[in-house]
Amino acid sequence: MNAIEVHQVHKSFGKVTALAGVDLAVPQGEVLGLLGHNGAGKTTLVRILATLLAPDSGRVVINGHDVVREPVAVRRQIGLAGQHAAIDDALTGRENLELVGTLYRLGKATVGVRAREILERLSLDDAADRPVRTYSGGMRRRLDVGASLVGRPSVLLLDEPSTGLDPVARLELWGLIRDLTADGTTVLLTTQALEEADYLARDIVVLQHGSVIAHGTTAELKARLGHTAITVVIEDHADLARAGGLLAGISAGEPEIDTATTSVVIRMAEGSSGLATAVRLLDDARISIADIGVRAPSLEDVYLSLTDAKGALR
Ligand SMILES: Nc1ncnc2c1ncn2[C@@H]1O[C@H](COP(=O)(O)OP(=O)(O)O)[C@@H](O)[C@H]1O
Ligand SMILES: [Mg+2]
Repeated sequence: MNAIEVHQVHKSFGKVTALAGVDLAVPQGEVLGLLGHNGAGKTTLVRILATLLAPDSGRVVINGHDVVREPVAVRRQIGLAGQHAAIDDALTGRENLELVGTLYRLGKATVGVRAREILERLSLDDAADRPVRTYSGGMRRRLDVGASLVGRPSVLLLDEPSTGLDPVARLELWGLIRDLTADGTTVLLTTQALEEADYLARDIVVLQHGSVIAHGTTAELKARLGHTAITVVIEDHADLARAGGLLAGISAGEPEIDTATTSVVIRMAEGSSGLATAVRLLDDARISIADIGVRAPSLEDVYLSLTDAKGALR
């Protein structure tokens, strides 16, 4: 059964079309990564799912409840950690969580127990009784995610949970989200980073200008993009075509040859160590390398591969 179903949702703000007919579904207990650049429509969709904004048309159903007709029932099912944290700086971490519990109309005893459980789970117990204004960015973000857990939601909406965090705080938050998703909570999380979706989600939907341009599992995306991209800049322009031919032998898919930068980009299948092989192949053929770089595929690569071959991953 699907915990989240989105059918043909449209939303405009004046002349701006934020969502141009979005369809997606998240099976119960699964994590969906909604990937897209700034302005793609991610937050608009999250706000509609959270009953904070009404769609112009289309239908959204969460655990069998329609967000427009049964907003109260939907709110009982969901937790939301937004891009702009709804945390009060002057209150302590514990007080913030207790406030949320009170808003959920949980009894005083339950509020206390839940706040304690969550603070422990977030590794914030030491800082629990300090005002939030003394927290680091990573601690605040963990608290924000924690606040979305107070009502024990079966569906969790996380809008760009790690944007703006330093790498260490980001890894901590990823660990926390993984723990949460391991216990069967359905999660929709938005992100601008393919690696984040890859780490946290099984299914990915790519949104661009309010439309879904790809959907599939992270494995399918990677099979298409390769595990890593290797860019080799060739010293002598005359060697470029020959280098491309040689590197085609180890590339997953056709190499991209860029005459403007005298470079060849190849994509490696998961697990293969292409860098050493690429260097050896070119060296054996007496082709000089001006520069070489390796990087994980990014959202840009997804867009590029989709403009090569229009259509969904499946
Ligand atoms: N309240 C609003 N009023 C006017 N335009 C908005 C509003 N909210 C979002 N938009 C516009 O809708 C588009 C999608 O925005 P948003 O959903 O915030 O994208 P994302 O979260 O992917 O960055 C953008 O062009 C944005 O400027
Ligand atoms: Mg947003």
